[in-house]
Amino acid sequence: MSGIKFFKNFIKNPGKVGAVWPTGHSLANEIIGNLYNSSNLKIAEIGPGTGAVTKYIYSKNIHKENNFLAVEINNEFYDHLKEQFPRLKIYNDCATNLPKILKEDENIAELDAVISGLPWASFPEELQVSLLDAIIECLKPKGTFNTFAYLQGLVLPAGKKFRKLLDNYFAEIKTSRIVWNNVPPAIVYMCKK
Ligand SMILES: C[S@@+](CC[C@H](N)C(=O)[O-])C[C@H]1O[C@@H](n2cnc3c(N)ncnc32)[C@H](O)[C@@H]1O
Repeated sequence: MSGIKFFKNFIKNPGKVGAVWPTGHSLANEIIGNLYNSSNLKIAEIGPGTGAVTKYIYSKNIHKENNFLAVEINNEFYDHLKEQFPRLKIYNDCATNLPKILKEDENIAELDAVISGLPWASFPEELQVSLLDAIIECLKPKGTFNTFAYLQGLVLPAGKKFRKLLDNYFAEIKTSRIVWNNVPPAIVYMCKK
């Protein structure tokens, strides 16, 4: 069901959705893998789509109940997420507004982690920069930023630019193994402020 909804939205808006199929279990697992031994984290998920990673965050119980929120720009995905995760605080907004949401709506000073499902290689550099500015502003010192990149995106100019930009923002960047059984195959960048 989520897959068909996802594909339809990709056809309508390929540049924003950035993928043909929802994130698979192995990739979702890899995206939050280095947070598995954590609990009570203040987390924001940006670009949750149909909630494949959201589900993992809940099932592994790494979040602090009232301090887990998601920001999704697509109206249909927003409605779907509200239905699937009635307790999730979800904002139908652009992730560049994350600092404003934290300050004005959530009264959260800093986040422990930002988890991203955003399709960075589909974005122009100005948007990549605005989003990374917003993320870094919200993270506490040594806070975690995990995001994925599809293999084909790694060779695209926007994908290469994004990888270089990460060096300007984060003190530490680790790259995961290649998750071959995702559609399409992908890696995860695990970054520390
Ligand atoms: C590759 S998909 C997410 C995949 C997700 N993990 C799943 O399995 O459904 C990218 C998501 O980012 C959202 N998105 C794109 N630009 C955004 C922005 N500026 N702010 C918030 N969400 C955005 C898209 O609407 C889409 O849901």
